[in-house]
Amino acid sequence: MVPLISLRHIYKIYEMGDETVYANDDISLDIDRGEFVAIVGKSGSGKSTLMNIIGALDVPTKGTYLLGGEDTGEMTDDELAEIRNRMIGFIFQQYNLLPKMSVLENVELPLLYQGVRDRERREIAMEQLKRVGLEDKAFNLPRQLSGGQQQRVSIARALAGSPSLILADEPTGALDSKTSREVLGFIRSLNEEGNTIVMITHDKSIAMHAKRAVQIMDGRITFDGSIEEYAKL
Ligand SMILES: Nc1ncnc2c1ncn2[C@@H]1O[C@H](COP(=O)(O)OP(=O)(O)O)[C@@H](O)[C@H]1O
Ligand SMILES: [Mg+2]
Repeated sequence: MVPLISLRHIYKIYEMGDETVYANDDISLDIDRGEFVAIVGKSGSGKSTLMNIIGALDVPTKGTYLLGGEDTGEMTDDELAEIRNRMIGFIFQQYNLLPKMSVLENVELPLLYQGVRDRERREIAMEQLKRVGLEDKAFNLPRQLSGGQQQRVSIARALAGSPSLILADEPTGALDSKTSREVLGFIRSLNEEGNTIVMITHDKSIAMHAKRAVQIMDGRITFDGSIEEYAKL
């Protein structure tokens, strides 16, 4: 089986006046289906840059990125948007829920983009809301929910389109420690059900919930191994 994610010699280079920033500096990485990987590094190390490339939200300056065996470098913007909608569920630190839409409509969004019809869309979205324990909030607005509940809605939204990959950027960054533990426990259970998860974090204790850690520093991978090995660093 080809890896779900295969990055080869990925660079993201920003020219800022006379300064050149290597936000990603020769990153090569394979991630298989079913893995739970934490990408961990200090602020400014290049994590979000890498997340945007893995999520097909941005393209590298050079290097090759195969997603599900398909070369993203050969794709048009429309094809990238299509593969993103079909294959990736995003969870962001700030939830990124649309404020004027109901909780249910937010969860329906990936299905809307996939062209799923009204009734089926509602049914699937409601099932996902049940899964995160929030079916009774379906017709509320996001701001009527607590932070932890909003993050659970965003998890339901990420799952709704049956993605091959769940990509979470600092998913607990805006949550208190108790709520963080609940959300991390939930993400872990999704992995145990077979979902592939890539979680970005600056916090080692959060990375410890994953099974594999990839540490980055100044845009380069400085460690890649099991969470047990990582714990010894
Ligand atoms: N659009 C951009 N233009 C210029 N420099 C950028 C841009 N995005 C990120 N960078 C720089 O790239 C480096 C990595 O940033 P980032 O990927 O956001 O790190 P992290 O998410 O680990 O905090 C930083 O030095 C940052 O200032
Ligand atoms: Mg970041």
